[in-house]
Amino acid sequence: MKAKAIAHPNIALVKYWGKIGQQNNSPAVGSISLTLDQLATTTSVEFDELIENNRLVLNGKPARDKQFRRVSYFMDAIRKRAKVQLRWDIQSDNNFPTDAGLASSASAFASLALAATHAAGLNLSEPQLSALARIGSGSAARSIYGGFVEMPPGQSDIDDPAAVQLEDENYWPLCILVCVTSTTPKPVTSRDAMRLTQASSPFYNAWVKASVEDLDQMRSAIRGRDLDAVGTIAEHNAMKLHALVMTSRPPLVYWNSGTMSVINEVHRMRQDDLHAYFTIDAGPQVKVICLDQDSSIIANRLQSLSNVHEIIKAVPGPAARLVEVCS
Ligand code: DP6
Repeated sequence: MKAKAIAHPNIALVKYWGKIGQQNNSPAVGSISLTLDQLATTTSVEFDELIENNRLVLNGKPARDKQFRRVSYFMDAIRKRAKVQLRWDIQSDNNFPTDAGLASSASAFASLALAATHAAGLNLSEPQLSALARIGSGSAARSIYGGFVEMPPGQSDIDDPAAVQLEDENYWPLCILVCVTSTTPKPVTSRDAMRLTQASSPFYNAWVKASVEDLDQMRSAIRGRDLDAVGTIAEHNAMKLHALVMTSRPPLVYWNSGTMSVINEVHRMRQDDLHAYFTIDAGPQVKVICLDQDSSIIANRLQSLSNVHEIIKAVPGPAARLVEVCS
């Protein structure tokens, strides 16, 4: 019983930040994301009676304790559902920096949900997979789908869809230029930062309230294929999130000098009538959103910044998919 799956990370245009309750990542706010094609996680899962101890290998190395515990909790939910007692062996590889604010937990748990359910003999629908993936990581519920995806707020049942696709990956030729400004893992995970912010930022309640309007406006901007509206809302939403993080106690600053350089360059490009906008998740990397037809000129300008290590060009990407199943 073995299966292998690929899933892509997503960037949140309107961000999930804050949870209801302690378990299973029920979001306090809705979110809308875009799945990215170039970045990917490939995960293979095997259940076998000959496996003596559960094993998790991430990017060729044994997982740290915290990662192992998180995956074990997730695998227990799958084994319970599939009524499988066997031990497991998981190998997962990213083609991009891990834990550095590039949504690796989204693609990791989306690919794991798909591979592990098939290896356990389950054949779940996409909505069921999205609900399952969310148990691993909130943002993973969105990476089950390609294109534009919405995850509504609130608690839901294991069989209720956690996220829904708004538009598929062929809907609109956008480009996301991922500006990598650091490849080292971030000092505080999204999960811990979210908890800290929720408990201590004086702006948290205002963030939850404002998210409703951001979601409404983002939905209609996507419907109208209006890049300036999508970009303006995404930028504002990202700034609100970072204001929350910076005003938690103790404060957290995810940005580095490269982050600031990209923000400033994006603003300069707009003064030069180039339609470029940014968003930043919980890390120092900046994702610049533009139309595919403008991406070369915009990438050239970003490339010239001395503290940007690499630019990865991505376009809207597909759903998580199986690449191998053997029994
Ligand atoms: C800033 O999904 O990584 O990327 O549910 O605790 O695993 P957990 O958090 P995670 O948080 C993502 C935060 C974000 C915004 C987003 O992707 O919507």
